[in-house]
Amino acid sequence: MKIIVIGKSGQLAWELNQLSSSEHQIICLGRDNIDISDVSSANKILLQHQAEAVVNASAYTAVDKAESDVKKAYAINAKAVGTLALSCKMLSVPFVHISTDFVFHGDKGAPYLPDDDKRPLGVYGASKAEGERLITKCYPENSAIIRTSWAYSTHGNNFVKTMLNLMDSKPGLRIISDQIGSPTYAKGLAEACISGIENELNGIHHFTDSGVASWFDFAIAIQNLGLELGLLDKKIPIKPISTSEYPTPAKRPHYSVLDKSSLVKALPDISLIHWQEQLRNMMTTLKSEQP
Ligand SMILES: NC(=O)c1ccc[n+]([C@@H]2O[C@H](COP(=O)([O-])OP(=O)(O)OC[C@H]3O[C@@H](n4cnc5c(N)ncnc54)[C@H](OP(=O)(O)O)[C@@H]3O)[C@@H](O)[C@H]2O)c1
Repeated sequence: MKIIVIGKSGQLAWELNQLSSSEHQIICLGRDNIDISDVSSANKILLQHQAEAVVNASAYTAVDKAESDVKKAYAINAKAVGTLALSCKMLSVPFVHISTDFVFHGDKGAPYLPDDDKRPLGVYGASKAEGERLITKCYPENSAIIRTSWAYSTHGNNFVKTMLNLMDSKPGLRIISDQIGSPTYAKGLAEACISGIENELNGIHHFTDSGVASWFDFAIAIQNLGLELGLLDKKIPIKPISTSEYPTPAKRPHYSVLDKSSLVKALPDISLIHWQEQLRNMMTTLKSEQP
């Protein structure tokens, strides 16, 4: 099967590209290759590549910047997503799109179900929610939306790599301990996207690694593994702080754990792995890639 991935330089696109095999040819297209703001141009490129399925791994992901860059965030996370869904509909190919835990408010106090009310706190979440709405309106019959959270990979910018750099260069860190979610290795998310295509996944679902953590818990685990694997050579003090002690332009949900049961039911070949095990897998790969 020929699977076209929109987005080339991002974490998820990179992990999807690693899954190219004799069974599935995966072609990643960046903004130089396809203009996702224009239906006829997107159609032309998808036809040229003989797309048999499309995964949208592109997004405006700068959560804080989005607060002052509203037009661009909506252009990429909503309008272009609607364009891609329409293009997939015209070509009759399945469309898999990735969304976020940030569509939720964070005050539920229990894992969010796919159909729970969307009440985003910021522009990024609101623009992603609008992207979801456009897909559901335009192409419900052959599309899947997979929401995820706290994604990281050996490739690209993410919390794990930022922490390792800061732990190497700073005398101490203060990390938020009152935001709870689930870290997710993008490698597992990429596998879920491919399985979604193979199993004709439809509708809205959630995929994250299993278990829950605060950013503080996540940072402590990164430090411990970093020391064990030789990615760090010294331990620094890490202090838990509250969200109010670290103000950011965008508000973030305090609790955004996602209920994954619908996806687990729909994709029998996908098993959820605990975030601590996946963190070890990612950091072991990171270590092996060091010169
Ligand atoms: N990272 C997380 O913690 C997280 C959490 C929840 C959900 N998600 C969702 O998961 C998906 C994948 O995230 P990620 O972490 O892999 O994102 P990422 O590393 O930030 O990559 C996003 C990609 O989108 C591309 N892009 C942006 N605008 C584009 C445009 N107009 N045309 C084509 N490509 C464009 C970027 O290209 P350039 O590099 O050229 O700018 C980049 O390759 C996204 O939908 C995101 O919203 C991520």
